[in-house]
Amino acid sequence: MALVSAKDMLVKAKTEGYAVAQFNINNLEWTKAVLEACEEAKSPVILGVSEGAAKYMTGFKTVADMVKAMVESLNITIPVALHLDHGSYQGTQDAIKAGFSSVMFDGSHYPFEENVAKSKEMIELAHSKGLSIECEVGSIGGEEDGVIGSGELADPRECQAMANLGIDFLAAGIGNIHGKYPENWAGLSFETLEEISKVTNGLPLVLHGGTGIPAEQIKKAISLGVSKINVNTELQLVFAEATRKYIEDGKDLEGKGFDPRKLLAPGVAAIKAMVNEKIDIFGSRNKA
Ligand code: 13P
Repeated sequence: MALVSAKDMLVKAKTEGYAVAQFNINNLEWTKAVLEACEEAKSPVILGVSEGAAKYMTGFKTVADMVKAMVESLNITIPVALHLDHGSYQGTQDAIKAGFSSVMFDGSHYPFEENVAKSKEMIELAHSKGLSIECEVGSIGGEEDGVIGSGELADPRECQAMANLGIDFLAAGIGNIHGKYPENWAGLSFETLEEISKVTNGLPLVLHGGTGIPAEQIKKAISLGVSKINVNTELQLVFAEATRKYIEDGKDLEGKGFDPRKLLAPGVAAIKAMVNEKIDIFGSRNKA
């Protein structure tokens, strides 16, 4: 199946009351693990790629070509969107050119008027090529590719103005943070989420920083209009933990245990298990 825009899968999720995961990918093993786990679970999926991760994988074109080829070689039948995560003004244009099927333009660090003007331009460009587009209002806390935000609550009026530009889904800060949550984290602001939901006319909302948010808060957020949840750090943590255990147990020193196909296998299995866990919490199993 060819890559698809994320619009239809998120409209369906919103209507039926579940969320589709955006799992960020970092390399070939990551991509394969996420695709295989989602195919087995018959869950639609959004593969997220930050500009840093794309650079690590040598560029947008490598990523787009790898994902397309892998979807074909693995006979993937579920809807798969390849989505640029937190795209810059230039990066968004480059990812569109390289063959991504969905983009996020993140202009949240610009003054709001400038964010609106640049978002408008990116919306027009993405839609002219049949891609879906996500924009952001109010920065999401934590660190993302070296950019640190302070965990704002987005202004619902700004969310409304951004929604009215014709975006396909909206990222808005509701107390969520990228990376691990600190011990004293206040939790999601459902009050803010409710207000944003009310003024954005049924637009699917995006919850960034999906790592470590307790399941009850995730479920409540979905009931209030969240249809896409981004998960990155949590897959990295379980991958690192499983790989560390393999090496600490001396498995790389037994036979051909040093072969990357063996050495990386426990990490891949851990990613698959976590993907399954998230799919069940988000409610997207058998929704493909
Ligand atoms: P986490 O790394 O906290 O899961 O956040 C991922 C994310 O929001 C990517 O945009």
